[in-house]
Amino acid sequence: CTFCFCCAAAESNKYEAAKEEILSQTVCTRCEVSQWDSDEPVPRADLLKGIQGAHGLLCLLSDKIDAEVLEAAGPNLKVISTLSVGFDHLAIDEIKKRGIRVGYTPDVLTDATAELTVALLLATARRLPEGVEEVKNGGWSSWKPLWLCGYGLSGSTVGVIGLGRIGMAIAQRLMPFGVKRLLYSGRTAKPHAAEVNGEFVPLDTLVSESDFIVVSCSLTPETQGMCDKSFFSKMKPTAVFINTSRGAVVNQEHLYEALSSGQIAAAGLDVTTPEPLPTNHQLLTLKNCVVLPHIGSATYSTRGVMSALAAQNLLGGLQGTDMPSELTL
Ligand code: NDP
Ligand code: DGY
Repeated sequence: CTFCFCCAAAESNKYEAAKEEILSQTVCTRCEVSQWDSDEPVPRADLLKGIQGAHGLLCLLSDKIDAEVLEAAGPNLKVISTLSVGFDHLAIDEIKKRGIRVGYTPDVLTDATAELTVALLLATARRLPEGVEEVKNGGWSSWKPLWLCGYGLSGSTVGVIGLGRIGMAIAQRLMPFGVKRLLYSGRTAKPHAAEVNGEFVPLDTLVSESDFIVVSCSLTPETQGMCDKSFFSKMKPTAVFINTSRGAVVNQEHLYEALSSGQIAAAGLDVTTPEPLPTNHQLLTLKNCVVLPHIGSATYSTRGVMSALAAQNLLGGLQGTDMPSELTL
């Protein structure tokens, strides 16, 4: 069989170990592996060419797997394994129509992503990037009572949009900072919310009552553009907005207006549209906007475990056996 291994976390030791493991398995002595051997995304033309006749595909969230790719692959393709928990880059309807199985990487990246979200929230609310910059550029003249003041979590109300695996892990990490109320919104109330005294509220209530809003939902047609002008206009002027889900959940023009006009206090984004965000993007001109390059799950061990899981998912799909993490289509 053939599979296209267009994944490139190549510097990770665990990734290499996972690759060795795959290659050492009996099934793989019969596999022809075509690997895009670079950390940069595979160019579309190479993907369309390389996937022809493949039985399996291991892809990244930067690879848009749509009808064109599936057509190029042809009828052999029976499994797609993505090195991510998010699957908004996959045309699920087209995949389902063709009877292709999908593997993904839930759970194993939850802790790393929750940690990064807390780091981003604190960095944004307490203005850490600005402070670091002032130390370097000579702006630090002396201790001044109101200089670089920000907002603290103690006694605050935190709103989590999407109390799923990652949203819950974020809430668990934030509560010990002395958070007074934990609000969450989503499609359904979650029994596990009791562990963090979570109150299930309508989105509007969450937006208007929270001091910190954390977006950790999946990107769906329903959540696309959810954080827009009307959303930001309901936020407190002292509130901080954090997004570690997907960039497209936010209308970035509306966010820019809210930040630059002082309608909201600050924003921290790990995800943007597009990625990478152009260096001349207007959001990057703002001191009260902290932008990270989509590094939620970026710890060596997490990326290693994700790689191994993605490889095992691929093998399960190729062999027609169980996949450790198969997406229910
Ligand atoms: P889960 O499926 O466990 O959680 C997704 C949550 O989104 C669910 O709680 C769901 O709530 C909620 N949701 C769906 N629709 C809506 C809606 N309309 N309004 C509010 N909430 C909604 O996934 P994970 O927690 O594992 O991952 C979440 C997302 O985080 C991923 O899809 C990915 O996009 C992103 N991510 C980003 C990373 C990064 O590096 N920044 C790393 C890893 C993930 P309900 O059940 O009620 O529908
Ligand atoms: C995901 O898994 O969806 C993240 O965005 C990257 O780990």
